[in-house]
Amino acid sequence: MMKRVYSAMRPTGKLHLGHLVGALSNWREFQDKYHCVFGVADWHALMGEYENSKVLKENTVDMVIDWLACGLDPDRAIFCVQSHVPEHLELQMIFSCITPLGWLERNPTYKEQLREITTRDLQTYGFLGYPVLQAADILLYKANAVPIGEDQLPHLELTREISRRFNHIFKTEYFTDCEAILTQTPRLLGLDGRKMSKSYQNAINLADTPDEIRAKVKGMFTDPQRLRLKDPGHPDECNVFSYYSIFAPEKTSEVREWCVNAQKGCTDCKKILAEVLVDYLKPITERREKYAKDRAKVWDILEEGRKKASLIAKQTIAEIKEVIF
Ligand code: TRP
Ligand code: SF4
Repeated sequence: MMKRVYSAMRPTGKLHLGHLVGALSNWREFQDKYHCVFGVADWHALMGEYENSKVLKENTVDMVIDWLACGLDPDRAIFCVQSHVPEHLELQMIFSCITPLGWLERNPTYKEQLREITTRDLQTYGFLGYPVLQAADILLYKANAVPIGEDQLPHLELTREISRRFNHIFKTEYFTDCEAILTQTPRLLGLDGRKMSKSYQNAINLADTPDEIRAKVKGMFTDPQRLRLKDPGHPDECNVFSYYSIFAPEKTSEVREWCVNAQKGCTDCKKILAEVLVDYLKPITERREKYAKDRAKVWDILEEGRKKASLIAKQTIAEIKEVIF
């Protein structure tokens, strides 16, 4: 039987190149190999953005437009907004009854976010239960595999623990273990060499125009040791070079040549990179524009997804109620 894959993103709005190489390019391939459900985790987003909740609707459409632009295909995969399918919450409630508080309090991601995110108050009941809802997302569709980044591994481990505990407590073998599919893509750093993130304003967005891309690439940090044109550069310590290796691997030997022999300056090297990225994104940008003009169509797609997801979700919940009661 074809495996089922579930993955989700919180609707943070327009996506950037990091999402494309880190997740979306994998998701796109999985559509051919698995039954895929791609979720918009808007309840998870609300856990952090409850004071700014009005942005979530627009962010959902912006994000799904980027999915479509990247080649995710609603005819082959199910697109599902979490809040449109109430069974996510029903299963979360069930799991809440059996998840020990200690598991949630010890969760490293939770502890880290409480420490690091100081702009919002995350000391809530809901946020502590973040991984319980994530387990419900995955297990509602009985997904066998979950493509995620390494940062999400503790959450997947909790998903497995919750499903095993469910089986144990209710004396069933209803859930089988789900495995992570770790995205093997190289990590793409932001323009300034830190992690690419919307909040650092160091990202190239899929929605950027060619001129915006050119301006952003022009400002990229390069090899800090190369101050003058005649200084040889160190491509392996240069973020610009790592972009070449991801987006134009066929050009890397040439770039290495001109860099270590000081034949080209960084300004020219970046100008060439900008055109590489503009070309790379061209088909995505074109598709993006088409959907951006018709946001109503995106809601239609999500409504179709809701119907398909609901069929699976309703069945799972009915079966689970049979197990429990
Ligand atoms: N927590 C994930 C993130 O922030 C998003 C998410 C929600 C998710 N539910 C999921 C990912 C289920 C994989 C499976 O990236
Ligand atoms: Fe980096 Fe290119 Fe400058 Fe070399 S020439 S340091 S690869 S930007």
